[in-house]
Amino acid sequence: MPRDASPRSYLMCPPRHFDVTYSINPWMNPEKPVDPALALAQWEDLRDRHLALGHTVSLLDPVPGLPDMVFAANGATVIDGLVLGARFRHPERHGEAAAHLEWFRTHGYADIREPVHINEGEGDFAVTASWLLAGRGFRASPHAHAEAQEFFGRPVIGLDLVDPRYYHLDTALCVLDDRADEIMYYPDAFSPGSRAVLARLFPDALIADAADAAAFGLNAVGDGRHVLLPHSATGLFAPLRARGYEPLGMDLGELLKGGGSVKCCTQELRPGSR
Ligand code: ARG
Repeated sequence: MPRDASPRSYLMCPPRHFDVTYSINPWMNPEKPVDPALALAQWEDLRDRHLALGHTVSLLDPVPGLPDMVFAANGATVIDGLVLGARFRHPERHGEAAAHLEWFRTHGYADIREPVHINEGEGDFAVTASWLLAGRGFRASPHAHAEAQEFFGRPVIGLDLVDPRYYHLDTALCVLDDRADEIMYYPDAFSPGSRAVLARLFPDALIADAADAAAFGLNAVGDGRHVLLPHSATGLFAPLRARGYEPLGMDLGELLKGGGSVKCCTQELRPGSR
């Protein structure tokens, strides 16, 4: 049975200064050239796809010298209109946090917290109906989990990431429908204890295999019906359809050179009830 989509609001940042000039994850190789025009075209394709599905896309101005800013999901976490800013682990990305905070301050958000502890926004935070899932091990500090729980008043489930290729939670786990507790994930990216937690909380989750995880298939964005994901994650399409979702394949190959794909480029602005 097909599912219902619900309209979403996203924040994106065009890759006008995107490049791979340093390496802070195993996907990044500064010796491998990036095609800036192709990166921009692929990003525009993603933006247009969100718009065609009826979602709203707001834009953050890219800043020269911050080549990873296209990965807008890392700049903040917004739930119920509350904004928890980011604090990046690597100095190369420190400057992005202020650009995001400034955007929220000038766009009518009243409740903004500048974080004390390291968190990289939705890179490591994922919202389901019942929980705030929170990754740690490579980027977010466990202290940031407590900070987020207190700020949002949502129960945080801490998950330990153990494979450096899956350095952010959103490279290994995707919330398919946040009005329920429906996710897909790649178990081997997590510690044995975290795998057991996921199996307990999400017994019906869609389990991705190594090839689909390596194609960044879990770095996907869902609106409850459509799931935008890298087209090369071929193994996920049939199981998604079998669950009533409509998978839509995207090519973000240039951005993958920075270690990101669909979800990394898409920050969700979850409105408040105000
Ligand atoms: N080069 C960026 C980094 O390593 C990529 C971030 C990808 N974003 C994400 N949400 N996983 O920080």
